[in-house]
Amino acid sequence: MNHNSSADILMPLSITDLSAMKQRGEKISCLTAYDASFSALIDKVGVDMILVGDSLGMVIQGHDSTLPVSIKDMVYHTRCVSNARQRAFIIADLPFMSYSTPVMAAKNAARLMQLGNAQMVKLEGPRFDCVRFLVDHGIPVCGHLGLLPQSINQLGSYAIQGKEQVAAEKIMADALELQKAGAGMLVLECVPASLAKIISTQLSIPVIGIGAGVECDGQVLVLYDMLNIGTSKRPRFSKNFLSEATNIEEAIKAYHHAVKQFQFPATEHSF
Ligand code: KIV
Repeated sequence: MNHNSSADILMPLSITDLSAMKQRGEKISCLTAYDASFSALIDKVGVDMILVGDSLGMVIQGHDSTLPVSIKDMVYHTRCVSNARQRAFIIADLPFMSYSTPVMAAKNAARLMQLGNAQMVKLEGPRFDCVRFLVDHGIPVCGHLGLLPQSINQLGSYAIQGKEQVAAEKIMADALELQKAGAGMLVLECVPASLAKIISTQLSIPVIGIGAGVECDGQVLVLYDMLNIGTSKRPRFSKNFLSEATNIEEAIKAYHHAVKQFQFPATEHSF
């Protein structure tokens, strides 16, 4: 725990704390949240990070993709989450088209940090120019490679990425370049476990997997998927943690412990 010794105030985890966890081989647990009640519960259980994902477009707003989510929506939900947490590190997604240029990215990231109280922003794809610009302006950035939900209309489906050698090499090269551009963390979504293992080993920054095998430095799931209360079919890489729990808090605890003990994801949740 992070205590300010003079006033004994509980401080949220920092990117330095999370990097230290990678260094000492402690897995980082992360869940998405979009409101104060779930934020408080996730925080109480001890989950290390909360991602205010633009997945809220699907699980909260009922859209069939993340594309309709606006920066105003993201600021609102990030504020709801940050109002209720004490310890968890908060990352907020930059939504579709909010980082078309580095200047736009900086303007919108500033809103997520100043109004939403996010500690880091996440953007999808090999946007080295934006990452560099944000980092130069003091904004911590999490990259996101593999399956990019904001590119669904180019991809055509939410299928696994990086299966072929050329595609795997491109993801590997992009990951190294994002780190070089200053990214402080990377989310890898829906890639073969073997590729995610290599990337997690090669990068010095924490690599957080979703559908990317157990060898990543940490794991993230969409909260509603792991509680099995989503509007669409639960993805193969997720698990219903509520089925063996008597309440939501227990389910979140079970997820947190499974991540910490290297028990989730199992082979059946990996590619
Ligand atoms: O929006 C989100 O919830 C995400 C996760 C799927 C990583 O980006």
